[in-house]
Amino acid sequence: MEQEFWQARWRENRIGFHEAAPNSLLTKHFSQLALEAGQSVFVPLCGKALDLDWRLSKGLRVTGVEFNQGAVEAVFARLGLVPEVCQADGLIRYQSGELTLYTGDFFDLSPVHIGQVDAVYDRAALVAVTPEDRQAYAAHLNRITGTARQLLIGFDYDQSLMDGPPFSVPGSAVHALYQVSHEIRLIEERAADGRIGERCSALEQAWLLTPLV
Ligand SMILES: C[S@@+](CC[C@H](N)C(=O)[O-])C[C@H]1O[C@@H](n2cnc3c(N)ncnc32)[C@H](O)[C@@H]1O
Repeated sequence: MEQEFWQARWRENRIGFHEAAPNSLLTKHFSQLALEAGQSVFVPLCGKALDLDWRLSKGLRVTGVEFNQGAVEAVFARLGLVPEVCQADGLIRYQSGELTLYTGDFFDLSPVHIGQVDAVYDRAALVAVTPEDRQAYAAHLNRITGTARQLLIGFDYDQSLMDGPPFSVPGSAVHALYQVSHEIRLIEERAADGRIGERCSALEQAWLLTPLV
């Protein structure tokens, strides 16, 4: 989607995607990424999700990117952290301790910005990208993270019943995007709740993507 679309959503507080607690598929399945304290996780299109705080509490280094500056600042304020802020090749970098968040366009991020990535956590990021941009999103994500393992949380529903975002990303689409780089395993699916669950019978799905060697 265009940046202005998302900035308007934040301005008007139309952020139904923001959850009041860490995502329960994250807390249930994150151990499957086999990360140890001190390792790093990259969070594309991170919003101000409480998932960021939860991973920090596990001793992980967390790096994210988000269009909206207010969302990024809200995360640091919530954590009681005062970040160092600097320009970084077209993005703005906020950093304190183990948390680094960039404001700007995900597609402008380079491996230099994010450094070593041990795992990717995508919750409501791929599903926020238009179907036309999906291939570019997955290719860029693989490029900047060195095809890291990934916990991917998205939705599968009948796209004719409602417009995205969130878009429906069924298993066939996950496979089309990642089967050349990852082994793909559906680890849980459940009826989606929240607004999407009210509008159609959507499934929320958690996928574990393990790099092919
Ligand atoms: C559906 S929300 C999900 C946010 C977060 N992952 C969560 O679970 O709450 C998608 C977010 O991605 C941001 N976004 C969309 N496209 C982006 C892009 N190309 N670069 C950076 N942020 C983007 C939007 O501003 C929005 O906050």
